[in-house]
Amino acid sequence: MKFKSIKGTRDILPPESRQWQYAEQIIRSRMALFNYREIRTPVFEETALFARGIGELTDIVSKEMYTFTDRSDTSLTLKPEMTASVIRAYLQHNLGEQQPLTRLFYIAPMFRQERPQAGRLRQFHQFGAEAIGGRSAAIDADVIALATEIYRSFGILNPALRINSVGCHLCRPAYKKLLREFLEQVRDGLSPESQRRIELNPLRILDSKDDNDNRLTASAPLIKDHLCTECREHFAELQESLALAQVPFLVDGRIVRGLDYYTRTAFEITSSDLGSQDALAGGGRYDLLAEELGGKPTPAVGFAAGIERLLMVLNQQKHDFPEEPGPSVFIACADADGRRFAARAVMELRRSGISAETDYFSRSLKAQMREADRQQAVVATVIGATEIADNRCTLKVMKTGETRQTALDSLAGGLKLILSRP
Ligand code: HAM
Repeated sequence: MKFKSIKGTRDILPPESRQWQYAEQIIRSRMALFNYREIRTPVFEETALFARGIGELTDIVSKEMYTFTDRSDTSLTLKPEMTASVIRAYLQHNLGEQQPLTRLFYIAPMFRQERPQAGRLRQFHQFGAEAIGGRSAAIDADVIALATEIYRSFGILNPALRINSVGCHLCRPAYKKLLREFLEQVRDGLSPESQRRIELNPLRILDSKDDNDNRLTASAPLIKDHLCTECREHFAELQESLALAQVPFLVDGRIVRGLDYYTRTAFEITSSDLGSQDALAGGGRYDLLAEELGGKPTPAVGFAAGIERLLMVLNQQKHDFPEEPGPSVFIACADADGRRFAARAVMELRRSGISAETDYFSRSLKAQMREADRQQAVVATVIGATEIADNRCTLKVMKTGETRQTALDSLAGGLKLILSRP
């Protein structure tokens, strides 16, 4: 075979696809419980949307976007995240006019040209939610509670929620100055990447993956201790709301996030079952993004989470996934009359809501029963000229070997009876 899937992309095959359906179903049900409705946006957008929204200097925009020019010379980018697209759609369709708080969720593929490794892909999938239109820290807590509730409903044992406040355009400039002054003193010992960031994006140095950087910045000033009054109150209110919602959290002044749009609340959920790429989910408040994208001031908060990482943790924790069900009935054919009967019957059964399967390879009866077993059919039956003449057949429950006679002309009824038994 000449063609292979592209590095950093994956085929999701059965039975794994069943795990995805199951996960998506639980995610959708939790989103509905929290009153979020689904948004689907295009896979590609104008490049400038992400450059403006996420920030030119971020790793995502400067190194990781799949950007191309189409035939009319427009620069387009496969979406590396959803928040910018959701706000673009919110502004474009005036969603805020219909309600004060717009709550949207999504499940979608994202694209980032990162170095592939366990838990890090170039096409990956996120579920996420954005609550647009409200300033209150109670909404931040609601969004965070939604994220943690989803993990809880999967029975994930040990996710850690860490929260921080990254301040606002009023308090951040003075803090940045303070941080730079600190960093200048340890500049020579920092990794080249962090040295470059002192000027451009000093906050990111605080969540460097380099142990030596972390040692040198252990006593760096943290923004949570240098917030303006409003940001400080907002952060205190967030903690109070989380406590009321009974969501356990840790305050971690080093959470700064890799996207530039955050103001005030920033948070991450990690799992020790993930190895080096341990972030399950991340999010926060982004009160200035709508304006940055040309809209009117619109406060908002949200999160996104990797589905591959969720499934990695579930598999690590030996989660009891529901199995892919086999067909309810396998009709084995004893002869040409049986095959003609089966051709009609499988369709009739399917139309009446019973999943039915038969043989398409003219196999021996023994091989057909083996196939019924391999497919984990719940019931198998053998039909031939004799059964047709007698208008009777035997339904065999594959697991127990138990049998039951039924009239061929009411096969669906007989099957329903036997299938409905526990
Ligand atoms: P993010 O932290 O870039 O945030 O991504 C969120 C989650 O997506 C990560 O915690 C991780 O689980 C997953 N993820 C990210 N990159 C990869 C990758 N290369 N391979 C596999 N999984 C990955 C955002 O995207 C923001 N839009 C979150 C947000 C929503 N903030 C406010 N609203």
